[in-house]
Amino acid sequence: MASFSNFHFIIGIILLVNIVQGTGGEIVFEEGYTVSTVIDGDKLHINPYSVFSLYGSSSDLIILDSVKSTFYTVSFSDSQVSEMELSGNGVAGYKDGDLGSAMFNKPKSFALDRKNNIYIADKTNHVIRKITKSGVTTIAGGYVQKTGKADGPAQNASFSDDFELAFDPQRCALLISDHGNRLVRQLDLKPNDCSGSSSGSGVGSTTAWSIGVIVACIIGLIIGFAIRPYVLPHTGNNIRPGQHDMEALPNQSGETSGDLLLRHQKRNC
Ligand SMILES: *[C@@H]1O[C@H](CO)[C@@H](O)[C@H](O)[C@H]1NC(C)=O
Repeated sequence: MASFSNFHFIIGIILLVNIVQGTGGEIVFEEGYTVSTVIDGDKLHINPYSVFSLYGSSSDLIILDSVKSTFYTVSFSDSQVSEMELSGNGVAGYKDGDLGSAMFNKPKSFALDRKNNIYIADKTNHVIRKITKSGVTTIAGGYVQKTGKADGPAQNASFSDDFELAFDPQRCALLISDHGNRLVRQLDLKPNDCSGSSSGSGVGSTTAWSIGVIVACIIGLIIGFAIRPYVLPHTGNNIRPGQHDMEALPNQSGETSGDLLLRHQKRNC
């Protein structure tokens, strides 16, 4: 019995040591980062709750003022800040249609796709909305408009009164973190919305594409050189003098025709 309570005592000490270590945990300062203010909400009369940068632009932001249920486009350059009401008219409500007259009910989360369409977790209305250049629509929850966790055709789906959205370009979907239901859900978007006309999406694939083209061209050149001795003796008589050496001849800009071919193929591919 005595050894049993000793055992408890030792466990207790270990726990205590862990707690003390936990509260005094290690902190690592990584230097080299900078913070600056780019937009002063008080000057613009915007209270930014959530913000995203437009794809393909280094100076345009979409800002959601949740208190006013309104989305703004804000452009900023070195010293100029210009603000434009994008949608929502300062009054909480539920109305689709024109950008100017549409209403949202104090949303807090939104996401942008590669086309800069905006998806809104309009959780108080229990729906997901979409803003495009041509107006505002409801894309999910429209038939239900109350809490639930039904999946299925998006207009028949229902959500809790607390959920957030993230755009997932790999799945071409919105991921929904449905806090109220403790679920991660997925709303499939239209492939067109993910095709990525703007920058961003293309970066990784462009690199892979270029590497593929270069490898293909190098293989092509190697094969070309390898079979040249077998091809040239037979066709040599038909070639104008010097032509068979064209691959190695630099042109005026110093490129060999092989380089030109590579460049040409890269451009064409
Ligand atoms: C979706 O909701 C509509 C309207 O309530 C209904 O007519 C339709 O049958 C529902 N579809 C499914 C698949 O539940």
